[in-house]
Amino acid sequence: MSGDLIIRNIAELVTCSGFEAKSGEAMSDLKIINNGALRIEDGVITFVGSEAEWELISPDNQSDITNTIDGSGFSVLPGFVDSHTHFVFGGYRPDEFAWRLRGDSYMDIMKRGGGINSTVSSTREASKEELLESANNRLNSMLSFGVTTVEGKSGYGLDFDTEIKQLKVMKELNKSHPVDIVSTFLGAHAIPPEYLGKSDQYIGFVLDSVLPYVSENELAEFCDIFCEDHVFSVEQSRRLLNRAQTLGLGVKFHADEIVRIGGTELAAELGAVSADHLLQASDEGIRMLARNGVIATLLPGTAFGLREPYARGRFMIDQGCAVALATDLNPGSCYTESIPLIIALATLYMNLSPEEAISAMTINGAAALSRQNEVGSLDVGKLGDVVILDAPSYRYIPYHMGVNQVKTVIKRGKVVYSKNG
Ligand code: NIG
Ligand code: FE
Repeated sequence: MSGDLIIRNIAELVTCSGFEAKSGEAMSDLKIINNGALRIEDGVITFVGSEAEWELISPDNQSDITNTIDGSGFSVLPGFVDSHTHFVFGGYRPDEFAWRLRGDSYMDIMKRGGGINSTVSSTREASKEELLESANNRLNSMLSFGVTTVEGKSGYGLDFDTEIKQLKVMKELNKSHPVDIVSTFLGAHAIPPEYLGKSDQYIGFVLDSVLPYVSENELAEFCDIFCEDHVFSVEQSRRLLNRAQTLGLGVKFHADEIVRIGGTELAAELGAVSADHLLQASDEGIRMLARNGVIATLLPGTAFGLREPYARGRFMIDQGCAVALATDLNPGSCYTESIPLIIALATLYMNLSPEEAISAMTINGAAALSRQNEVGSLDVGKLGDVVILDAPSYRYIPYHMGVNQVKTVIKRGKVVYSKNG
C-alpha cells in the first residue's frame, strides 16, 4: 500500500513530540526513544514508541508490512521544515558576493540598483517554465538535505504579472514535487525601479492591486514585507500587514535585519506568526515576541554570508522565545540549501545547543508556518515525514560540520530520497 511502512530497531528515535511551538527551556527536550519503532499507514504516523512496545501490541501482523526499514545504528528525525526561503527566482549574483568581499555592503549594492532589483529583472525575463525548472532543481536539493516542508516567497517580480507568476510556480510545484510548499506573498520586498522615490505609492499598488488578487485566488497563506531602513518603514509595514490580516492572511516578515527600526515590536503588536532575521532586535522587542507568542525565525546563513553580527539566539531562548531556524535560501544574501550549515552556525555562533537547534528546525519551523498540528514532530496523527541519518545521533549534525548526513527521506510514508540512488 502506498505511504505504508515501518522502521524497526531505530537506534535513536528523535520524536520532537508536541503539537505547539516549543519556547525557552522546552526547546531542549527532544523526547528521544532509544531502540524505537515508527509505523506509517496511508502516509500518516500510526505508532511511535519503543521496539518492545511495538512487539507487544502488534505481534501478528508485523510480517504483512511490505516496506520494513532497519533503523539499527541510525538516528531518525522528523522531516526538516525550512520556514523562510526565496527559492523561486531567475538569474544569479555571484558578482555581488565578490563585491562584498571587497568591502561593499549589501545595502550599498542595493542602493545602486543591484541586489534584489537585479534578481527582479532576471525573474521578470524568465518564462514560467524556466522558473519551474530551476525551482524544481532547488527543491530536489533541499529534499536531499532532509527538508520535507518548505516556505517560499514571491518578491522578485514587484509587478502584478511576475509576482503572480512566482506564486503560480509554487502552487504547481506543490502538486508535482514531494516537498510540501507553503507560499508567502512578498510583493513589498524592494522598491522597483518604476517607483523609485515613491515607496508610498508602491505600497498603495501592492495593497490595492496585487494583495486582493492573491487572497481571492488563494495564492499565498502569508504576507511578508522587507521592513528595513531605506526599504519599507514600520508605518508602511503596518499598513500592508494590517490589510493582509483583514484579508485572512497570516503575517511573517523581515524585521530588524540590518538596522534597528522597530520591526520586532511591530511583529509583536500585530501578533505575527513569526518575525524573521532579528539581527538588530532590541531587548524589549525580544521580550515582546516571547510574551506574544511570535516565533523568532533566525537565519544564521545570512549573517554568515553578509558578515553581519548573528541574531541573539541564546538570549532569545533565555527570554522565553520560541526560536525557529531556516536557510533564507536566496540568490543574494544567502545562497544555500544546507541544513547542516545552518545548524552548525546556530550552535557555534548563536550558542544554541544541538537539541535547541533541532527543535528550531522541526517543530518550531512547523509552527512558523502554522503547521504544528501536521508536521514538525513524529507523533501519531501527523504526516509520515521522516529523515533517517547516516549517523547514530542528531548530535552528528552540528559536529560533522556542513556535511550532509541524510541517508533517506520519507514523505507521507514514501521513500522519496535515498543517498545512494
Ligand atoms: O532575507 N532581506 C531581504 N531579503 C532577502 C535577500 C534577498 C536578496 O538579496 O535577493 C533576505 O536576506
Ligand atoms: Fe529572506
